Amino acid sequence: MDKLVIEGGRRLSGEVRISGAKNSALPIMAATLLTDQPCTIHNVPKLRDTLTMIKLLESLGKVTRYEKGKLVVLGKGPIKDTAPYDLVSTMRGSFCVLGPLLGKLRRARVSLPGGCVIGIRPVDLHVKGLKALGAEMTTDAGYIVAKAKRLRGARIYLGGVFGSSVLATANVMMAAVLANGETIIESAACEPEIEDLGNFLVRMGAHVIGHGTPRIIIRGVKELLGADHSIIADRIEAGTFILMSVATRSDLTIRDAYHGHLLSLIDVLESIGVRFEYTDDVIRVINRRTITPASINTYPYPGFPTDLQAQFMALMATTPGVSVITDRVYPDRFMHIAELDRMGANIRREGLHAIVQGVKTLHGAPVMASDLRASAALVIAGLTAKGLTEIHRIYHLERGYEDLEKKLLNIGAKISRKKV
Ligand code: EPU
Repeated sequence: MDKLVIEGGRRLSGEVRISGAKNSALPIMAATLLTDQPCTIHNVPKLRDTLTMIKLLESLGKVTRYEKGKLVVLGKGPIKDTAPYDLVSTMRGSFCVLGPLLGKLRRARVSLPGGCVIGIRPVDLHVKGLKALGAEMTTDAGYIVAKAKRLRGARIYLGGVFGSSVLATANVMMAAVLANGETIIESAACEPEIEDLGNFLVRMGAHVIGHGTPRIIIRGVKELLGADHSIIADRIEAGTFILMSVATRSDLTIRDAYHGHLLSLIDVLESIGVRFEYTDDVIRVINRRTITPASINTYPYPGFPTDLQAQFMALMATTPGVSVITDRVYPDRFMHIAELDRMGANIRREGLHAIVQGVKTLHGAPVMASDLRASAALVIAGLTAKGLTEIHRIYHLERGYEDLEKKLLNIGAKISRKKV
C-alpha cells in the first residue's frame, strides 16, 4: 500500500485543470443500461470509482472501451439484472444501477451498499420512489429486489429528514423515463450532477424537464437511444483546489471549472477576505495574507456542499479565531477531526457541531485517511503544516481525485508517493 508524503509550508502557484465530475459520471454511466445502442461519454475521470462502475457495467453484460477520458459503452445482447455485493460494497455510487435496471428489465437485484464512515446512509427514499412507480420492493439476503409488471408515472415527494437525496433522485429519474405516463418528482435533488444526468437522458430521447430544480417532470417513452455526452467539471475537485490555495495563501488559476456551481463556497470565502475573478470556465483565486474565521452549515445544493466540509475545516484549523462547522447532510461526517488534531489543530466535536479554534500552524505527522473528502482535508492540512505529513490509506483519494499528485506537483507542492 502507498502513502503520500507532503513537505508543507510552501506557496502554490500557476494553473490547475479540473477533471470531469465523478458524481456526474457514475449515474450517467449507469444510465447507459437504459439502451441497447452505443453511448459515448467524454471527460470521464480515471478514478477508482469510475473503473469500478466500468467493471459493474461489464458484469451486467455491457462491453466498454475507455481511453483518454472517452468511454464507449456498447450492448452485446440482453443485460443481466444482478449487481453483486463485491462491487456495490466497494462503492455506494454503484447503487444507482437500480433505477435503470428496473426501467429497462422491469426487475433488478442490487446489493445493499451498507453504511460507511460518513454515516448510516439509508436507502428508504430510493425504495419509496420506485415503489410509487409501481415496483414491488423487497430485500433478500442483503439485496434489494425490485420487480414490476409495468411501471407507471406518479407524483412522488422525495424529500427526506436530511433534505433531498442525489442518488434517490437519479434512480427514480432513470426508472421513470421508461415508465408509462407522467412522473413528477417533488423535492428532487437540485445538484448540477442531477442536471447533467437529466441532460444525458434527454440526449437519449427521454422527455425530462426541470432537472436541476426541485420539481422534475418526466414523460415516459417506449425506448431510449444511444447518445454522446460530455461530463461537467467536478465542482468538488475545483472547490478542493480553491481551499488548498486559500489555506496556503497562494494565488491559483483553476481551469475548466464553473464558478456558478460553487457560489456557496465562493460567497463564504469572499466574506472572509478572499477575492475571485472568473470567466465561464476559469476561476482565479486571489488571496490576502490574512483571513478571518467563518462558520458554515452544509445543505443540499445550492447550499454549502457536505463534500467540501472536511476541506473547509482544514482551512479553518489554521485561521485564527473560532469557527463552528455543522454538517446538516451527514451529521456524523467528522472522522477527520481526530487526524487534524494529531497535526496540532484544536477542534472538538460538540453534538452536531465541530468547534474549531484556529491555531497558528499545524505540524506534520503520520495520519490516516478515513474517506475520500477527509483525505483531501489531510492533504490541505499537510500543505500548510510545518514539516513532513505522511498520509496513509490513500486509496480513498484515488476514488475521487484524478492525478492529484501530478496536479499538485505542477503548482509547486512538494509531494511524493512512497511504498509503506
Ligand atoms: N438519505 C436518506 N434516505 C435515502 C437516501 C439518503 O435518509 O434513501 C439521507 C442520507 O443519509 C443523507 C442525505 O439523505 O443524510 C443525503 O444523501 P444523498 O442520498 O443525497 O447522498 P448520495 O446520493 O448517496 C451523493 C454523493 C456523495 C455526496 C452526497 C450528498 C454520489 C455518488 N455520491 O451521495 O458524494 O456526499 O450525494 O451531496 O453522487 C463523495 O463524493 O465523497 C460523496 C460521498
